[in-house]
Amino acid sequence: MRIDVVTLFPGMFAAYLGESILQRAQAAGTLAIHVHNLRDYTSGKHRVADEPPYGGGGGMVLKPEPFFAAAEAIFAADPARRPRVILLSPQGRPLTHAVAAELAEEPWLLFLCGRYEGVDERVRAHLTDDEISIGDYVLTGGELAALVVIDAVSRHVPGVLGDEHAATRDSYADGLLEGPHYTRPENFRGWSVPEVLRSGHAGRIARWRREQALRRTWQRRPELLLAAELDEADRLFLLILAQETTGE
Ligand code: ADE
Repeated sequence: MRIDVVTLFPGMFAAYLGESILQRAQAAGTLAIHVHNLRDYTSGKHRVADEPPYGGGGGMVLKPEPFFAAAEAIFAADPARRPRVILLSPQGRPLTHAVAAELAEEPWLLFLCGRYEGVDERVRAHLTDDEISIGDYVLTGGELAALVVIDAVSRHVPGVLGDEHAATRDSYADGLLEGPHYTRPENFRGWSVPEVLRSGHAGRIARWRREQALRRTWQRRPELLLAAELDEADRLFLLILAQETTGE
């Protein structure tokens, strides 16, 4: 997968993309990530990237020309195809597990990072295919959001995680939150690992994990249960949980 990013602050990407799983995926050639400085596509002596908004109101808006010039230079790198162009903004569609999996199917993504009060509307209307928000809060710019999307998407690209199937085991993959995990020591400060996990009984362990996931989802994000894939045993367990809660 190829990923390009256009930003006023390319230095913000180097540290995160230069470590751990994303670094290894790039070294292995599974991911090719290119970060471009929006400033390089500005013109004039002062290399201005932003201007006050028409109509007043304060703040600064990123100008359209540098975004179009940057995107067109990136398109020219491979004229036979086009990346999906994604603008990061608080007005975008919310990032979810399903959105990350969907974007991972694309061979080429281009992320445009906004700053200040926003980006000229013509960038959104005439250059962007998709607009994504990472949550209902406002960041100082799209850079962290782009990194979050890149990280979440990359985990779905075959070969990026050591274990091919790990992304399918995630919280959210089956619509439920994950239950607890334990490692050694068996007893830490008097808190011991649940007996079932030490039983060696694969069937009992799988059922326990499922019930822990259902319990955690019920307690923390009950609305997720409406869309989760549940079988008869799951439904029965939830009924018991509901009775516990109501004290019946
Ligand atoms: N830019 C500023 N805030 C953002 C958010 N919540 N998601 C994506 N991009 C943003």
